[in-house]
Order: sequence, then C-alpha cells, then structure tokens
Amino acid sequence: MTKVAMITGAAQGIGAEVSRHLAQDGFDIAVADLPGQESKAQDVISEIEKIGQKAIFVPVDVTDQAAVKKAVDEAADKLGGFDVMVNNAGVAKVDKFADIKPADLEFSYKINVFGVIYGIQAAAAKFEELNVPGRIINASSIAGMHAFPVWATYSSTKAAVISITQDAANEYAHSHINVNAYAPGVVGTTGMWDEIDKKMSEINGKPIGQNKKDYVGTIPLGRTVEPNDIANMVSFLAGPKADFITGQTYAVDGGGLL
Ligand SMILES: NC(=O)c1ccc[n+]([C@@H]2O[C@H](COP(=O)([O-])OP(=O)(O)OC[C@H]3O[C@@H](n4cnc5c(N)ncnc54)[C@H](O)[C@@H]3O)[C@@H](O)[C@H]2O)c1
Repeated sequence: MTKVAMITGAAQGIGAEVSRHLAQDGFDIAVADLPGQESKAQDVISEIEKIGQKAIFVPVDVTDQAAVKKAVDEAADKLGGFDVMVNNAGVAKVDKFADIKPADLEFSYKINVFGVIYGIQAAAAKFEELNVPGRIINASSIAGMHAFPVWATYSSTKAAVISITQDAANEYAHSHINVNAYAPGVVGTTGMWDEIDKKMSEINGKPIGQNKKDYVGTIPLGRTVEPNDIANMVSFLAGPKADFITGQTYAVDGGGLL
C-alpha cells in the first residue's frame, strides 16, 4: 500500500522540495500550508501528480492545535493512511536583540515551537490510532545549534525544536515512532540572508553584502545550502535506512558550523 506523508509549510521553499522528494520516494503527499497559499500549493500538487503520486492541499495554521489535529485527520482520511509528518512550517524574523518586542516573540514561538509540538502530538496520535511505526521530522536550523547574531528569537525557537525532538523521541519510542530533525544552514536562494546582512551591517558597519560574503567564505564546502540538500536528508530520515535513528538533529550546512 502507498505510504502517506504530510508536510507543513509545503507550498514553497524547503517544504515544496521535500514534498517532491518524498513523492519520488513513493509517498502520496498532503501539502499543508496556510489557506492563502493554496494556489502555490496547487503548483506543487501538479508536480507531484506528474511524478505519479497522489497529492492534496490541506489548509492549516500550525499555531492552532485543534486545526492541526483536523488537518492530520483530513490527510489520513483522504489519502488512506498516515506514515510521515514533516513539521517544516517556520518563520525567521531578524532583529537586533535590543529591538525584540513581545509581539515578535509570540509570532515566532507560536509558529516555530508551538506549531512543531502540535504537529508531533497530532501525528503521533494518528500513528498510534492506525498502529503505524511513523516518522516525525522537524525543522530546526544551524541557528538552533549555534546562535546567530540578530537572530536571537529565531535561534532560540530552533534550539527548542532540538530539545522537543529529543523529548518526543523518548516518549513515543514505545509506539515505534521515530522523531528526528534537520538543521539547514542558510539557504542561498531565499531573501533571508539579505535581511540578516542589512541588520548586521547596521551593527558592525560593514558594507551591505559583506556580512553575507564573509559567512559564505566560512563554509568549507564553498556554497550556501539549497532546498535539494535538505530534502535529501528528509528523504533519508523518512525511509527504511533510518529505522534505528531517533532523537537526532542533523545539520545540512556544507560544514558551516565546523
Ligand atoms: N531558508 C533557510 O535558510 C532556512 C535555514 C534554516 C532553517 N530553515 C527552516 O526551514 C523551514 C522552511 O524554510 P523555508 O526557507 O522553506 O521558508 P519559506 O518562508 O520559504 O516557507 C515557509 C512556509 O511555511 C508556511 N507557514 C508560515 N506560517 C505558517 C503557519 N502558521 N501555518 C502553516 N504554514 C505556515 C508559509 O506559508 C510558507 O509556505 C522553516 O522552519 C525554516 O525556519 C530555513
């Protein structure tokens, strides 16, 4: 029987690439994202259908615990099973430490931390209901392993994901549910670095573009990470070769943290 994977934040970026890779691996895919992302999600669905797998759009706001449970139910009912949950949805707000406001903290923590916890709860309950040895794979970041300047809020949410991954792996091991995480380095193709670079230059006075250049210069493998690099890791963690791996967070960063 075809296996089913749900990916949150799957309408674009890393989540879309993970969806395509898992479809290549033979999964049917629930492309989950905010309702406003439906038209982008439909493009991802068309690509998955061309690969020969089924795909549906599941609207969800991961900050709403009941909505996440409902989304998992919908994916399992419509696709006829539930085997893998990728808690990928996340936001990266860039701010100097002194400028962090309560609303910024609430926004980032609700999506990056609460959303991951709700996703783990809903997926694990479904795996237990269906008696499936499921896989849960969470989005952390290298910023959660080593804090980045102007990224205190983000770094701390992603550090929390590492801890949550360890704890959930422990608690759900008796149900044969493996819980792991991926920690991407900075993706070169998103606009995220431009914002970090701008805020860092306000702090250290380096010209615009220099902070990014300096960072990329420290990556031993000589380039920023691409969604394809991360999707390869998720594909491994979702597959049979990762049967005995749980509670781990893997950096995919070209050695940037070395
Ligand atoms: N891009 C990077 O450099 C990088 C580096 C390290 C970690 N990450 C992490 O990888 C994950 C994906 O990153 P990306 O670069 O593809 O981001 P992205 O901004 O391109 O995509 C994020 C997706 O999450 C969705 N989303 C946001 N809030 C949501 C909510 N409340 N409910 C449901 N969906 C929501 C968005 O609609 C979007 O489709 C994130 O968790 C991010 O923190 C990214």
